[in-house]
Amino acid sequence: MTERPPLSSAHELLRRTTADAHSRVDALLGGGLASSEGYGMYLRGMHRFIQVSEARLAGHGVMLGVARDRLEQDLAALSFEPIRPVAAPPPEPDRVARLGWEYVVSGASVGARYLLRQAQQLGYSAEHGARFLAGHAGDPVWPRFLVRLARERFTPDELDTLRDAALDAFAAAESAFKTARQENVHG
Ligand code: HEM
Repeated sequence: MTERPPLSSAHELLRRTTADAHSRVDALLGGGLASSEGYGMYLRGMHRFIQVSEARLAGHGVMLGVARDRLEQDLAALSFEPIRPVAAPPPEPDRVARLGWEYVVSGASVGARYLLRQAQQLGYSAEHGARFLAGHAGDPVWPRFLVRLARERFTPDELDTLRDAALDAFAAAESAFKTARQENVHG
């Protein structure tokens, strides 16, 4: 029988195996929000990523409708167009895979605290243009997710599923930011 992993090992695995993917997303964003154009790209990429995540999670786990609304308000406030819609991906039926995806959606709020300060330096606020980041940065979604993750006991197969889903989610985010960069920010 395989030994059960200790409490934090699932988080440790996710952090370690997605570190390169996080660096790629970070690099696509130039390490932060240096200009309004860069900020527009971030908003558009996150909007697409949250839309895809909403479809994959299909009402399970983290609720993303409010985040999407805020992103749409920020995009409108800055006169940026969302990325052109594509067909939504199917819901993810596997609960463990959904948790892996949620790791990435929830973890994006960790960086949001840092990105909010940069958006504020560009002149945006919780009232104008930075509703999403202000909401995301103050959201307890990340500590709550970590508590849920720590309560789980995964089999080795499930750990593979968890990791693969987190990598899929990062790939979706990467693709969203690439599209956001390629398309004209103003539609
Ligand atoms: C330029 C944009 C970004 C910056 C500067 C940034 C920065 C950060 C920072 C400083 C942390 C904390 C690292 C630590 O405590 O060791 C973090 C964690 C994280 N970020 Fe980002 N981030 C960015 C974008 C994103 C995006 C777009 C996503 C997801 C789509 C994301 C997903 C995550 C995840 C999952 C974690 C948690 C890592 C862990 O502790 O397990 N980040 N980010």
